[in-house]
Amino acid sequence: MTSAVVIGTQWGDEGKGKIVDLLTEKADVVVRFQGGANAGHTLVVGGETYALHLVPSGILRPEKMTVIASGVVVDPEALIGEIEALRARGVRVSPDNLKVSDKAHLIFPYHKALDGARERPLPGMGPEGTLKIGTTGRGIGPAYEDKASRKGLRMADLLHPESLREKLGQALMEKNALFTHLYGLEPVSLDAMVALGQEWGQKLAPFIRDSWKIIQDSLARGLRILFEGAQGTQLDIDHGTYPYVTSSSTVSGGASTGAGVAPALLGKITGLVKAYSTRVGEGPFPTELLGAEGERLREVGHEYGATTGRPRRCGWLDCVVARAAAALSGLTWAAVTKLDVLAGFSEIKMAVAYRLDGEELLYPPSDIRDLARVEPVYRSFPGFAEDISGARALADLPRNCRVYLEALEEAVGVPLGLVSVGPERDETIVLGEFF
Ligand code: IMP
Repeated sequence: MTSAVVIGTQWGDEGKGKIVDLLTEKADVVVRFQGGANAGHTLVVGGETYALHLVPSGILRPEKMTVIASGVVVDPEALIGEIEALRARGVRVSPDNLKVSDKAHLIFPYHKALDGARERPLPGMGPEGTLKIGTTGRGIGPAYEDKASRKGLRMADLLHPESLREKLGQALMEKNALFTHLYGLEPVSLDAMVALGQEWGQKLAPFIRDSWKIIQDSLARGLRILFEGAQGTQLDIDHGTYPYVTSSSTVSGGASTGAGVAPALLGKITGLVKAYSTRVGEGPFPTELLGAEGERLREVGHEYGATTGRPRRCGWLDCVVARAAAALSGLTWAAVTKLDVLAGFSEIKMAVAYRLDGEELLYPPSDIRDLARVEPVYRSFPGFAEDISGARALADLPRNCRVYLEALEEAVGVPLGLVSVGPERDETIVLGEFF
């Protein structure tokens, strides 16, 4: 098989940037298939830190091709900014090594304005009228809504300035009614949006391609394709902690629909399991630590949003959600990340089940009202104090660390494929072939 998928098993921020970058060494093409600039993939290469939001992590290796596929919602402003920022740091970004799907939907400023407005109380009303999700404010939900209701504009529309005004006019009629009558906002100027669309078209035209055919063609030529997931399984629109989720399919199946590749061609599926849990935004989080231990995980693990800078909520590893992710995505194996962050805790815990109304659950309940009431069933482990960043084989790890990993493997129900022991590329224990 010449393709492989990387997805998050938790609430995102599992350290996908580093792992995708590492696997990219063996890949020819790296594809983002869902989400948008809500993602923030952090990579540390040669002491330099890069935070990528839309451009696939493969861009940092100049000989690789990267693709933003049809399932992604693209904010051209963010994309142009990212391309310019990468170029300013000497990274090659050209139409040769970055392709953007002509079918990918566009995020306009009015999507972001709507995203923000929905998170605030309605003018003249109390907070009870608002469902605050704690979104990244990047317009992701409103753009996917337009896509599903067939009102969206796609990258290909930027190549047809003659029809841009008509399409934007149709989209804005409803948006402006919402802005002025419901949200107390100024209406959006059609002229300004048309001008923006034209400017984006001029800048991005060389990158806009029929990405699914490029991917199919690459597969036919035996090239290795890496599908880079964003967010995590608990944020999946169908299988996450709805409504506190993102608006796309974050499970492995999303790679199939978002990139246009048959499920049977996806190859090995790697699920990232951070050695502890984090969550940004609202919603239930059974293993959350509200005291000093949570604070310590946040500081040592630098758990602040790469996109919004928000402090992440932190807690012990939850194998119940990782077990569900293993089933939902058909994981080949787990890649454990940020294990080094646990060094120095005298005791480490992991949830292996939930208790709800006297029953023991091995998978999260569907309804968040129940999820908010579960009690984690913990296993407790003695901690380790050693610096593990030099370990390159499991045998190099302290015994207590190995015991924790074995328990993780058993609780999640898939073998380990990789263990990350530090932020740099080489601070990694690789246990298998990813393609
Ligand atoms: P949205 O994707 O901006 O609509 O946000 C919906 C929910 O997903 C919020 O709880 C966000 O904090 C969360 N979210 C979205 N993208 C990411 C990510 O890349 N990492 C972690 N959480 C995310």
